Amino acid sequence: MSGSKPGVHIPIMVDEVVEALKAKEGGMFLDCTFGSGGHTRAILDASPDAWVVALDRDVRAIKRGESWAAEYGERLELIHTPFAELEDRVSFRGFDGILADLGMSTDQLKEGRGFSFVDEGPLDMRMDESRGMSAQEFVNTAPEREIYVALAEGGVGQNARSIAHALVSSRPFESAKQLAEVVKQSQLGKRGESRVHPATVVFQALRMKVNDEIGQLEHFLQAVPKVAKKGARFAVITFHSIEDKIVTNRMRSWESAGSYPASWRGARTEVRIGHVLNKKSIVPSDDEIERNPASRSARLRVMEFEKDFSK
Ligand SMILES: C[S@@+](CC[C@H](N)C(=O)[O-])C[C@H]1O[C@@H](n2cnc3c(N)ncnc32)[C@H](O)[C@@H]1O
Repeated sequence: MSGSKPGVHIPIMVDEVVEALKAKEGGMFLDCTFGSGGHTRAILDASPDAWVVALDRDVRAIKRGESWAAEYGERLELIHTPFAELEDRVSFRGFDGILADLGMSTDQLKEGRGFSFVDEGPLDMRMDESRGMSAQEFVNTAPEREIYVALAEGGVGQNARSIAHALVSSRPFESAKQLAEVVKQSQLGKRGESRVHPATVVFQALRMKVNDEIGQLEHFLQAVPKVAKKGARFAVITFHSIEDKIVTNRMRSWESAGSYPASWRGARTEVRIGHVLNKKSIVPSDDEIERNPASRSARLRVMEFEKDFSK
């Protein structure tokens, strides 16, 4: 891998993604979560006829990419935008392959932006620091009930209420580390205590709230069929069951314009527009998990569009 500042993030299931997108055949690809560009590079390197439009809502990711993008010339275009706004920000229609590798990158985790609970610095957690409310502002000002709802919706199970209470009683917070410590103390001896730091899911929930990750994903999934051409592949890597369920349900709805489980979230499509390629999710090999433990909860889902809505 050449280039000046590739970032520290290790891309996940790269070979599986290249295969899923049929990148070796070349074409126009949309990488909606550029990050450190590992998947984008793999797509560009898979064929001299592969072109990539890459998006990221984090300006630091885009800047990092700009330091090496020139080596691919016109084959790589970088755009700073949240993927929910892709219809307005990307003029091309009819992509051959679309990728979303959800969540945050290792670079973001290590930049002292409050994503990690060892961060002594401010509890920010915004992927785009130019928009919205930081996690610090949220936990320091929101009513307890709102914090509880954010924790519950973000996957903090039975302890969401007691954690929300502990946070409100201990604020103001100035650092991620301080918040992690309060969560830990509040959960000592509680049911459900595990080897995983109790702040892990709390941090995930706050990050999801501050970045409106579910809203972003739902808007994004509505836009995807409109920029895909017939035969296009769509690959998504998720890291937890909340987003995996949303992706799976939406893919199923594209496959069968019929009856859905009552818990299904989102709009119905009237006609079948594609089919799911892997009924079970693709997961990293044991070897990959050993090399890159951050990959352990990743799941790759792939579908193929059968209709062209892009024209
Ligand atoms: C897991 S990393 C992607 C890593 C990348 N595939 C690679 O190989 O380096 C996720 C990236 O997606 C970006 N991201 C997350 N949500 C986003 C959204 N709604 N719109 C655009 N980018 C987003 C994050 O800023 C982060 O850089």
